[in-house]
Amino acid sequence: VTRALAAAYSPFFSFGVAVNRNHVTQEDNPGANIVQQHFSVLTAENDMKWESIQPSEKRFTFKGSDALVSFAEKYDKELIGHVFVWHQQTPDWVFEDEEGNFVSREVLLQRMRDHIFTLAGRYENAIKGWDVVNEALNEDGSLRKSKWQQIIGDDFIEKAFEYAAEAAPNAALYYNDYNLFKAEKMDGAIALAKRLKAKGIRIDGIGIQAHYSNEPPLEELEQSIQKVINAGFKIMITELDLTVLKFPDEDKVGADITLDFAFQEEYDPYKNGISEASHQKLATAYIDLFRLFLKYHEHIDRVTLWGVSDKDTWRNYWPMKGRTDYPLLFDRKHQAKDFVDDLIA
Ligand code: XIL
Repeated sequence: VTRALAAAYSPFFSFGVAVNRNHVTQEDNPGANIVQQHFSVLTAENDMKWESIQPSEKRFTFKGSDALVSFAEKYDKELIGHVFVWHQQTPDWVFEDEEGNFVSREVLLQRMRDHIFTLAGRYENAIKGWDVVNEALNEDGSLRKSKWQQIIGDDFIEKAFEYAAEAAPNAALYYNDYNLFKAEKMDGAIALAKRLKAKGIRIDGIGIQAHYSNEPPLEELEQSIQKVINAGFKIMITELDLTVLKFPDEDKVGADITLDFAFQEEYDPYKNGISEASHQKLATAYIDLFRLFLKYHEHIDRVTLWGVSDKDTWRNYWPMKGRTDYPLLFDRKHQAKDFVDDLIA
């Protein structure tokens, strides 16, 4: 790659990446080098999630998040906080009393408030924007029956944004979800954002995760983007990665491919080399997507990749145990893929 990516994109949107502990604590980590050079805004892939920050009641652990904040200060990077309220990577204790029964609405609201205030307060001057609520919608746009929803009721989202606005007055506040290219789901997200706004509760934008498989859904995504623009909210592309590898048949999901030699070539591109066809498919997908992002750059504040290199992508070893994936811009040896220059041209 011939230019620093964040600098190349800076007239259009900020360019971000999800990072882990090793990127921000090991100065000689090759991934850390890429982060320093190519990205201007960082999201913690896991270190600010509830289970990392408050694994048990009132026992807060800031080791990972503090390391990230120091790294960001040192290298002059912006930070996105991910995430206050989600149904995953949130310990069971949050929803339960000592007997293991659901707590009352009041208790859960108090826990939510304490968590948001503690986390947002500690990093008040460090965090530019927060994913306040993550993945609250079903595919048809209705509210997911998460423990948050069951215990507090539908207004758990309003409460989360109210607390966040109070605790993080200077940070942008986002609703974040996946599959928002689907019309029904995006309609649900926009309705949710409008509901908040109508009640005078601040929400600044909608985060589109963008974990795609095979061809990215370009046309649907464009329509979704236009809807958000018409509704007057900002857009963030928050968790971009693209897999072009085949999804295994249902009966192979979770299987260990190292035991099944027949699958290795197809499912472990790094052992056998990614095929030219798959590589080209990835190149085309990224080029098309970035063209779309650039077209709407006035409304897209940020594009964040969900991982630095193929070495640390969460897509490795899933949905099959021995399989590594090829979904990011930098490969397993931390080399930029050959199409990356075409993304900025
Ligand atoms: C993923 C991380 O990448 C993994 O390391 C972790 O094991 C599970 O969570 N949507 C989100 C992210 O909002 O927080 C998830 O991150 C990916 C899906």
